[in-house]
Amino acid sequence: MDFKDLSVVVTGAGGGIGAALVEGFGRAGARVIGCDRDGRSLDPLPLAGRATFDLADPASIRAGAADLLAAHGAPDVVVMNAGWTRGESFASMDEDAVGREIDVNLTGVARLTHALLGPMRARRAGAFVFVSSVNALAHYGNPAYSAAKAGILGLMRAVATEGGRDGVRANAVCPGSVRTPAWDHRIARDPAIPAALARLYPLGRIVTPAEVAEAVMFLASARASGITGQTLAVDAGLTAGNVPFIRDILGE
Ligand SMILES: NC(=O)c1ccc[n+]([C@@H]2O[C@H](COP(=O)([O-])OP(=O)(O)OC[C@H]3O[C@@H](n4cnc5c(N)ncnc54)[C@H](O)[C@@H]3O)[C@@H](O)[C@H]2O)c1
Repeated sequence: MDFKDLSVVVTGAGGGIGAALVEGFGRAGARVIGCDRDGRSLDPLPLAGRATFDLADPASIRAGAADLLAAHGAPDVVVMNAGWTRGESFASMDEDAVGREIDVNLTGVARLTHALLGPMRARRAGAFVFVSSVNALAHYGNPAYSAAKAGILGLMRAVATEGGRDGVRANAVCPGSVRTPAWDHRIARDPAIPAALARLYPLGRIVTPAEVAEAVMFLASARASGITGQTLAVDAGLTAGNVPFIRDILGE
């Protein structure tokens, strides 16, 4: 896949999947503009540009998007990858925590999409790839995060439908579990989690950050020029069927 001289905005660039996206797009020749809440997480990355903003803060998003557009113009590709959750169940969350997870994972993403979509439509070219989750497709815990990730699919279809005639495509990937810093707090609580997780997946393992990045890059690339408004699970088969049911109930 060739992204030579194309500008690619990656949010959450300082995280586990973000770093794989920066590496993958960079290797394919892109000028990668990394965004994150905290500039320090961007320091080690090979970036052509950077922007720092907090997706929970509308003024910060506005300022970050304006800086980004002023410095680099309308991006060729936007990967909405930043995300965050701690609320494993409704029982463990108060009302503010529910609101916070929706703010970061959906409202903030919608605000940033709004800020970048206009200039991309005016330039009459561009591709969005939204990093949603298998949590958008079925319930695997984290209810507010899951609702936000399902909301992202609606947002993605809106961008695809409204932006299509201006040459802007939009698609989403839904990763299954990926071992990134997002899992640190759970594994600190129970070191047996990675082995337990692998047994739930048809491939007998979870996917890697690089595998998620490959799928994102395909959807962002010219090879996917006829694909818009679609959702691709990158989940080692999790949403294809229920491995424990087959193993424990049917004895296969
Ligand atoms: N790791 C998984 O198992 C998994 C599974 C499905 C989907 N995802 C999604 O993949 C994406 C990347 O996750 P990851 O696993 O690399 O996690 P990560 O925690 O390593 O990275 C997430 C990044 O998002 C940034 N971020 C968080 N809150 C932010 C905010 N308020 N403003 C700006 N940036 C913020 C973080 O600083 C971090 O750099 C997320 O959208 C996540 O929901 C992850």
